[in-house]
Amino acid sequence: RLSRALAGVALLSLLAAGCAAEQAEEPPVPDAWGEPAVVPDRNPDPRIVEVDLEAREAEKAYLEGTTTTVWAYNGTVPGPLIEANVGDTLIVHFKNSLPEETTIHWHGVRVPNEMDGVMAVQEPIAPGETFTYQFTLRDAGFYWFHPHVMEPEQIQKGLFGLIRVRGPNEPEADVEKIAVLGDVFLNKDGTFNEELDDDTIMMGREGNVVLVNGEVMPALDVQPGGLTRLRIVNVANGRFFNLALPGHTFRVIGTDGGLIPQPYDTERLLVSPGERYDVLLIADGEPGTELTLMNEAYERGHHTGLAEPMPLARVRIGEGPGLSGRTLPETGPAIERLPGGPAEATITFDEGYVDGKLTFTIDGKAFPDVPPIDVQEGSVHVYDLKNDAEMDHPFHLHGFFFQVLARDDVPVADEELANKDTVILPQRSTVRIVTRFDEPGMWMYHCHILEHTERGMMGEIHVEP
Ligand code: C2O
Ligand code: CU
Ligand code: CU
Repeated sequence: RLSRALAGVALLSLLAAGCAAEQAEEPPVPDAWGEPAVVPDRNPDPRIVEVDLEAREAEKAYLEGTTTTVWAYNGTVPGPLIEANVGDTLIVHFKNSLPEETTIHWHGVRVPNEMDGVMAVQEPIAPGETFTYQFTLRDAGFYWFHPHVMEPEQIQKGLFGLIRVRGPNEPEADVEKIAVLGDVFLNKDGTFNEELDDDTIMMGREGNVVLVNGEVMPALDVQPGGLTRLRIVNVANGRFFNLALPGHTFRVIGTDGGLIPQPYDTERLLVSPGERYDVLLIADGEPGTELTLMNEAYERGHHTGLAEPMPLARVRIGEGPGLSGRTLPETGPAIERLPGGPAEATITFDEGYVDGKLTFTIDGKAFPDVPPIDVQEGSVHVYDLKNDAEMDHPFHLHGFFFQVLARDDVPVADEELANKDTVILPQRSTVRIVTRFDEPGMWMYHCHILEHTERGMMGEIHVEP
């Protein structure tokens, strides 16, 4: 009952904050975690995963007594999960049954350029049309996919799905679960609120219903003392999640591009739109007790102020067998450290009004006017990503991983050695990254606050063969 009350409080405070929305009904509190459904693999070859995906309208009951018409892959929000092993070939037969054109972008997956699902390389797939995506899964890790056409609207409406690629070094755990963090902005009748003003664009659209795996306050069942592995992704348009489980620490064992060599502990896990984290958790508590996974307050810029802490999910400690004897790993698999060095260029991210319109800029220009960066295939480059704005921007690069070298000229700790595809550029600071551009083509980089992408904060990197 406490959880139900908490969920209600969270929703009501959100509704109070969002002036455009009328009071919504209290959402039902689900009794389960709502793991994404696995897409059936219809190819008998063990090295080929061949699946069907259809983008179509579906109904979802976010709020009690209402139905919301969502856009969903295979009819579910969150979209389905593609399971594969590293080295597998993935073939996706995609059908667009939406009333609007779309594409699929494989966020974090290193694909050949023509499979990246962006306008620079692919004609959008018209309503009723099909397209086959095919590529090899080169890296074990947890990825997601979403449209790269009308992203703010299509992703908010429910178009996102997951890819879990297993490798030879998977850590042991008693339970492994997925946590898809997101939100939706709904009117009282359950329809999407699509009003857009400068405040919404400035912060990215933060919803008034906050979701884990498409549910409000779902319950995660764990064993006392057992090791729970959580694969976390933030699919929200603009909301950052600052996760905490009071009395507990998360052991971070991986991030965007897979496992990391030096796991570390944290009490707060900040996850920006687009990012993934792979964590282990030992639930500590009496059998039968319930903990609350929180989204803690986090100040991400002058414009947004300090968000209030809010409950996200319940963690129920079961009556089960107790300690499994499994322990938290101290090390992870090695990854190649890319060479560091001084930055060869600074790329500056900022915001401002251009011709009276709120615009998010890269080196003073808005997409498509941002000049492409030209590099040679196979070359390694160090860039300073400078955020001149008074708010945080999650920087995302297509096609390649990068490694963070320094923040404001201070080298990062060893534990930060990781293959990333998305990193937070905190307000008024500089993050230095290094990348090897080993795949030719035209690749996008952008802020993953989707309203910022839409308003100009996107550029291209042209990798010459
Ligand atoms: Cu997840 Cu270009 O994006
Ligand atoms: Cu991407
Ligand atoms: Cu941004």
